[in-house]
Amino acid sequence: MSSTKKIPWVVKYRPKKTDEVVNQEEAKKLFIKWIDSWISKKPEKKGALLYGPPGSGKTSLVEAVAAEKGLELLEMNASDYRRTSDIERIAKASSRARSLVSARGKILLLDEVDGISDVADRGALEAILDLIKNTQHPVVLIANDPWNPKLRGLRDECLMIRFRRLTKTDVKKVLRSICASEKLVCDDDAIDYVAEKSEGDLRSAINDLEAVGEGFGRVTLSATKALLRTRDRDLETFEVVRRILTSKYSWQAREASTQTDLAPDELIKWIHENLPRQAQDPEDLWRAYEAISRADVYFSRIVRSQNWDLLAYAVDMMTAGVALSIKNEQYKFKWTEYSPPPEIRKSAIVAREVRRVREDLAKVIAAHLKCSTSTAKSDVIPLLKVIFDNNLEYAAKLALGLNLSDSMITYLSESRGEQIVKRVEELRQEIRRETRKTVLELSRESRASSGRARTKQSGKKEEKNSRGLENFSRK
Ligand SMILES: Nc1ncnc2c1ncn2[C@@H]1O[C@H](COP(=O)(O)OP(=O)(O)O)[C@@H](O)[C@H]1O
Ligand SMILES: [Mg+2]
Repeated sequence: MSSTKKIPWVVKYRPKKTDEVVNQEEAKKLFIKWIDSWISKKPEKKGALLYGPPGSGKTSLVEAVAAEKGLELLEMNASDYRRTSDIERIAKASSRARSLVSARGKILLLDEVDGISDVADRGALEAILDLIKNTQHPVVLIANDPWNPKLRGLRDECLMIRFRRLTKTDVKKVLRSICASEKLVCDDDAIDYVAEKSEGDLRSAINDLEAVGEGFGRVTLSATKALLRTRDRDLETFEVVRRILTSKYSWQAREASTQTDLAPDELIKWIHENLPRQAQDPEDLWRAYEAISRADVYFSRIVRSQNWDLLAYAVDMMTAGVALSIKNEQYKFKWTEYSPPPEIRKSAIVAREVRRVREDLAKVIAAHLKCSTSTAKSDVIPLLKVIFDNNLEYAAKLALGLNLSDSMITYLSESRGEQIVKRVEELRQEIRRETRKTVLELSRESRASSGRARTKQSGKKEEKNSRGLENFSRK
């Protein structure tokens, strides 16, 4: 089994050294200088807030610096420190002098702080502030959007380190080097396309590259377009679900859920269906299912009490609650095929089928009556439906005359379709018998008459033939 487990490329190609973090020179310099000031025990600010667009290397840089400086990295996501007590536990550990705790220095990393809700996680932000004031170790906070008012207190206590959106050139450079390491044939225009679409988010670019490489074995422009475009168009709901399940931050998950027209009680079915495809770590799954079932409880309470205030909690549970439950990055960001929930799968097929039958039927009618298909749909089909529901014999004859397929007949009358189809078959048999009879009679007749004719002619013909034979044998 373990051999089939694949490390997703975003994990495999995470920078191991600061050199490998591309195009964040300013951030690198500031951050390393700040860590060094901790090592020489005179930090100006005890916390640093790294901020910038997703997939620009914030987490990567902290990890690379920790590795290079031989510091132990205590890394936590918002889900780990939502409660004040969690942060107090961390704070206690970090307020002890470092020589007592371990020989190695530490970095405390609180990722996705903008995922902390100032309402739901009341106290958590103050607890982080306390942590920064009392810490004996560097405290690193990471946020996408640091300008949220709820983070103001934290901003004041932190050295602000900005990450730039990566340029298309940066993204292409990394993608190319990954192609080289994977010995993957990558066309330049395909790399260009992936980079363009990523808008500087290297994480999504790498995920896209992996998906194309895995699916097609070779990264060509057409393969890339095919894969990424279908993902755009047909799989809109899938993308929303994917965005929810792979969200690192609670705000991302919440925001994604607003990108669809699906009602929350529909969306939850999609999430439920695809959760086990994305999250394969049993512990993650267990936590996520718990979040889903809590959302479900809220939904049934809303139905019972008509208390719509609960909707926000339900949505929070099924989006952020589920997303933050999935921690195992081996699966979390891996591109996997999604599927609609079973009832939608079925009805989608049925609906598509019905639409197709209706189109075909309209074409048949239009051809017969020399009208447009839209007239056939608006004027003729409704009339046929009345006939098909009420007059079996006439319906069967019409069906026969128009040469309708069984599904067209069933489309025209659900209640009596089967009977009509049977009757059509009987009529067809009858006609066949009739035609056979007529054909037989006709051929008998024609044979009889041509037989007479032939006996007259055949005399001459045989003469000719025998003469021919004579001629032949004489040669
Ligand atoms: N500046 C960068 N240099 C090299 N790789 C990067 C950079 N930014 C992102 N990546 C790649 O994208 C993935 C996600 O990066 P990450 O550091 O988690 O982004 P952020 O924390 O800014 O959202 C990493 O695994 C890495 O492979
Ligand atoms: Mg990150």
